[in-house]
Amino acid sequence: MKRLNSQLQEDGCPLELILLIRTLLAGCKEISFRVSQGELAGVLGSTLSDNVQGERQKKLDVISNQILKDILSESGYVKALSSEEEDTVVGCNPDGKYLVSIDPLDGSSNIDINSLIGTIFSIQHAPQWMEPDDPQAFLQPGTQMVAAGYVLYGPSTVLVLTTGRGTHGYTLDKTHGGFLLTRPNIRVPEQTQEFAINASNQRHWEKPMQDYIADLLAGKDGPRGKDFNMRWIAAMVGDIHRILSRGGLFTYPFDYREPNKPGKLRLLYEANPMAFLMEQAGGEASTGTQRIMEILPTEIHQRVPVIMGSKEEVAMCLEYHNREAN
Ligand code: AHG
Ligand code: MN
Ligand code: MN
Repeated sequence: MKRLNSQLQEDGCPLELILLIRTLLAGCKEISFRVSQGELAGVLGSTLSDNVQGERQKKLDVISNQILKDILSESGYVKALSSEEEDTVVGCNPDGKYLVSIDPLDGSSNIDINSLIGTIFSIQHAPQWMEPDDPQAFLQPGTQMVAAGYVLYGPSTVLVLTTGRGTHGYTLDKTHGGFLLTRPNIRVPEQTQEFAINASNQRHWEKPMQDYIADLLAGKDGPRGKDFNMRWIAAMVGDIHRILSRGGLFTYPFDYREPNKPGKLRLLYEANPMAFLMEQAGGEASTGTQRIMEILPTEIHQRVPVIMGSKEEVAMCLEYHNREAN
């Protein structure tokens, strides 16, 4: 089976980027080990602190952030990093070529129930003009990403990665410690009968999403003329991994709960990297009105509505949004 390194070389990835990705993955292997130790290592449960977004941090959020921050800032390849668990940008090596954005532990509410969790990351070029702690440099549209991916700490530890030459899946061989290419060139089926949404928020959605989901739920008897199945893992990594594996539509839509937070998911380290993976696998990713990867970010922890997955189903959902706008 092909190793990660060979695939990255074949994809024409610059050496320094390969080394950066491998460094980041060394951190993820450490997280994978800690996760698998669970209660034996005392990593479950919460801390007494909140992150900048007002969320109570789990011990594993803090541990994962520290592992990745240490390994990335010592690597030399990274000029600065932004993280869900850091209030502001962390300056690293002034000569580093890259910027890294991370969700160190996605799916925090799954930690204590031994369910799916993961790490999400995106990598951009570091502009030469920037000071290492300047957040402005991170505010580039997703189309500028040079790599993005996630590591899913499931029954097996899986990496899904793109450097803009397709989306490839790897499995961590825990006996040798390497990521082996197990799913080259992932393609998302264009059609689907499966969707993922936290339906408990229904009353807070906008009308187009209300109408779209109502028609899915009406199944065979409704305008869609077919039954749909629903799944919700409460970890974007888990839901997106399923959709990359067998198709589907994932959404965390705009909602009216908090007007200054138009969505729940964060652009830099959740929506953008997943959008890049999805598009490289033939899927689509939108806010409902705009392609996610074309958004010009205004701040590092910006939140956006997310609709992504199988091409035809995303297009259908967007039709409901367009109808409403006209
Ligand atoms: P995080 O654990 O990094 O804060 O992210 C959780 C996110 C995302 O992974 C998931 O899809 C969503 O929050 C779940 O939200 P609900 O708890 O509202 O279902
Ligand atoms: Mn997350
Ligand atoms: Mn997180």
